[in-house]
Amino acid sequence: MRSKIKLILLLLILLSLWALNKEYDFSTKKLQRVYQCWSLKNQPKLQLSDWFHPITYVNLSTTTWSAPIVWHNTYNESVLENYYAEHKITVGLTVFAVGRYIDFYLTEFLYSADKFFMVGQRVIIYVMLDNFSKMPLIQLGRFRTYKVFEIKRERRWQDISMMRMKIISEHIVDHIQYEVDFLFCMDVDQFFKNKYGLETLGESVAQLHTYWYQTNPDKLPYERNQLSEAYISMGEGDFYYHAAVFGGTTIQVLDIVRECAKGIMKDKKNSIEAVWHDESHLNKYFFLHKPTKLLSPEYCWDSHHKDSNIKIINLTWNFKNYNLTRELS
Ligand SMILES: *[C@@H]1O[C@H](CO)[C@@H](O)[C@H](O)[C@H]1NC(C)=O
Ligand SMILES: *[C@@H]1O[C@H](CO)[C@@H](O)[C@H](O)[C@H]1NC(C)=O
Ligand SMILES: *[C@@H]1O[C@H](CO)[C@@H](O)[C@H](O)[C@H]1NC(C)=O
Ligand SMILES: *[C@@H]1O[C@H](CO)[C@@H](O)[C@H](O)[C@H]1NC(C)=O
Ligand SMILES: *[C@@H]1O[C@H](CO)[C@@H](O)[C@H](O)[C@H]1NC(C)=O
Repeated sequence: MRSKIKLILLLLILLSLWALNKEYDFSTKKLQRVYQCWSLKNQPKLQLSDWFHPITYVNLSTTTWSAPIVWHNTYNESVLENYYAEHKITVGLTVFAVGRYIDFYLTEFLYSADKFFMVGQRVIIYVMLDNFSKMPLIQLGRFRTYKVFEIKRERRWQDISMMRMKIISEHIVDHIQYEVDFLFCMDVDQFFKNKYGLETLGESVAQLHTYWYQTNPDKLPYERNQLSEAYISMGEGDFYYHAAVFGGTTIQVLDIVRECAKGIMKDKKNSIEAVWHDESHLNKYFFLHKPTKLLSPEYCWDSHHKDSNIKIINLTWNFKNYNLTRELS
């Protein structure tokens, strides 16, 4: 009997010690946060000239609205690393894989992201699948996790691609906004080949398209139907952006995907489908709301395409087997 009471007492003591410790842990975390906020406010913000040094071997170094175009050798990595060591962040990455896209591309995309995407930072990858049970069992590195969500299967790949905008916006509102500071949205049929780091972070980030980055706006494949929400008239436009990569702060990405989804839905009501689907709407968005940072085509390159400007590829298109993937069965 006695020993039982002793045991219960001991357990109680252990339990309260544990609870105290938890409470202590909690309040020190809170204090740390308060301190972090305070010190953030009192630290100079990173200026463009602190880290960005445009070079002249490519004629696209800054946009007419003064947004940097990030190429190899245009940024000072240690400045960025020091800055983000003081300003801890978490970076999110959404990727959609449905039907055969799961079998063909997902594993390679995820492993390459683990190896090259935001190394040393906290990362959450949001994987959207139409079949939960096909999620590959993968192990990510330290500070890196993934979350898997099931989505409804659409009949046509164009619809999946367009619904993506709506689904991302719902997830940002539900949870992503509380989980990450920056968010990238990427296609799954590509993989990382080299570092994809802090230099790519920005408030609103757009990706120059492999095929079109040196093309005059009048020859870009913008939507030219005036009835479409994605319409850009001749004589207007800046660049053609690839929808395979876009990003920004989480709140900014919410605005991007919401506006694109709105345009897509309006077009649908009028039985219009823009020439490049969600990409046309993304281009319209970035025409109206200029991105604050552009990524050179090194950050999303078709390696079958030859171009002497491109010496290093950081993210590359995967082999696109449309026969197998687009039928979605
Ligand atoms: C950059 O150079 C390429 C050829 O090297 C040319 O076709 C293109 O028009 C130039 N772009 C600008 C913005 O000057
Ligand atoms: C791509 O990766 C290489 C190798 O890590 C790195 O030197 C380069 O700065 C990265 N970015 C660009 C735009 O090439
Ligand atoms: C990066 O910036 C730091 C601090 O301004 C400087 O000491 C260093 O030399 C720079 N590195 C390069 C490669 O320019
Ligand atoms: C999901 O994948 C599993 C395993 O590959 C398969 O057995 C199942 O039929 C799939 N479900 C659907 C609805 O396609
Ligand atoms: C795709 O299908 C077309 C017609 O069905 C065929 O001619 C072509 O060789 C196929 N391509 C591949 C890569 O299998």
